[in-house]
Amino acid sequence: MINRKTLLELGWILPSIAIPVGMLVAVIVSAFGMMIHVPADAGTIQPAAIDSTPPFDQPGELRQVGPNEYEIALVAQIWVFNPREIRVPANSRVTFIATSRDVIHGLHIEGTNVNVMLIPGRITRQTAVFREPGEYRFVCHEYCGSGHHLMFGSVIVEE
Ligand code: CUA
Repeated sequence: MINRKTLLELGWILPSIAIPVGMLVAVIVSAFGMMIHVPADAGTIQPAAIDSTPPFDQPGELRQVGPNEYEIALVAQIWVFNPREIRVPANSRVTFIATSRDVIHGLHIEGTNVNVMLIPGRITRQTAVFREPGEYRFVCHEYCGSGHHLMFGSVIVEE
C-alpha cells in the first residue's frame, strides 16, 4: 500500500539515490565522453634550458603519435606564443605541451577545453579534440604586462 507516509519517504529516498547517480554519470560523460580533464602537471623544466629540452627545442612541430593523434610543443613568452599558428587535420586529438619562458601566461583555445596557466618552470599538458574544420583562436588570459593583449594565435583545422 502506498500511503502518504510512504510517498514522503520516497520523496527523500529517490533523490538521495538519483543525485549521486546523476553526478557519477556527469563525471563519466565529461571525463570520457567529452574529454574534459583537469590539466595534468607534466613535470618541471628549467626556463633557461627550454631551447635545448625536447619537445620545446622544436616548438610548433606537429608530431603524430597515433591515428588522428598529435602532440605539439608550445612556448609562451612576453609577448608572443611560439608557434602563433598551428595547423592540424580535422578530427584530430591534439595534446598541447606548453610552458612559459618568463612570467605566468595563460592559454585558452576558443571552442575547446584548453584553458590553462603556463607557469615558468612547469610543463602543462592538455588535450583537445578538433572535429570541425575552421579557425580556433587562442589567447593569453593571464595578465602578463604591457603586451598582454598581443598574445594570441590560431589553430587552423584543415579538411
Ligand atoms: Cu601572456 Cu598575458
